[in-house]
Amino acid sequence: MNKLIVGNWKMNGSLAGNESLVRTMLDGLAAAPAPAPHADLALCAPAVYLAQLQGLLKASPIAWGAQDVSAHEQGAYTGEVAAGMLKDFACRYAIVGHSERRQYHGETDDTVATKAQRALAAGVTPIVCVGETLTQRETGQTESVVKRQLAAVIHTVGHCITEIVVAYEPVWAIGTGKTATPEMAQEVHAVLRAQLAAASTHAKRVHILYGGSMNGANAASLLAQPDIDGGLIGGASLKAVDFLQIAAAAR
Ligand code: 13P
Repeated sequence: MNKLIVGNWKMNGSLAGNESLVRTMLDGLAAAPAPAPHADLALCAPAVYLAQLQGLLKASPIAWGAQDVSAHEQGAYTGEVAAGMLKDFACRYAIVGHSERRQYHGETDDTVATKAQRALAAGVTPIVCVGETLTQRETGQTESVVKRQLAAVIHTVGHCITEIVVAYEPVWAIGTGKTATPEMAQEVHAVLRAQLAAASTHAKRVHILYGGSMNGANAASLLAQPDIDGGLIGGASLKAVDFLQIAAAAR
């Protein structure tokens, strides 16, 4: 299975800046020496820019997606964006349960699970984020935290669990320059894989991405781990060269 490298732009960008970033990425991909990278690529932009990404990327090898989706189908939820609306703009992915949403917007495991289910029902692949804080790691809770977060999604989406993407993002590694070592990340990915395997015989099909200060220099060793199937890239996805370097590190 190809690795999956997803950029999460977070709340960054502008019409002019996005266009130049995307065009530089596409030029870089076109100029890449054969063989093409063993990676599927996607960019997740703020919702207002999804139409722009659709226009720029529709005939390209890069897919696009959103950074969140509403837990509701439609109706009086001011400011929210429904999964069906993302589908209208041909989004392949929606990130759900990013730690920044859990932390700053009070999203619970149940909310995240409902969002994943809404995305699936609309034909959008949810990228479900799980991960422990520094305190949780230091007090030996890493495994129980990520398992609890994933269990809520397994419970809600049932046999559709093989249709999701999981992203392990240790909160202490996000935007800090502190990356989990490949061994630390692999240990948690193996736990998540085993949990998926207990829920489905097709668990191997599920991409489990690593996220947290991934960059061109550390990507190859992370992506070489047996249960690391790709990356969810924040800061480095805002620079074409860095993002493409990560994609090229996928084997
Ligand atoms: P950084 O790559 O900037 O650490 O962000 C990771 C992340 O949160 C991606 O969703």
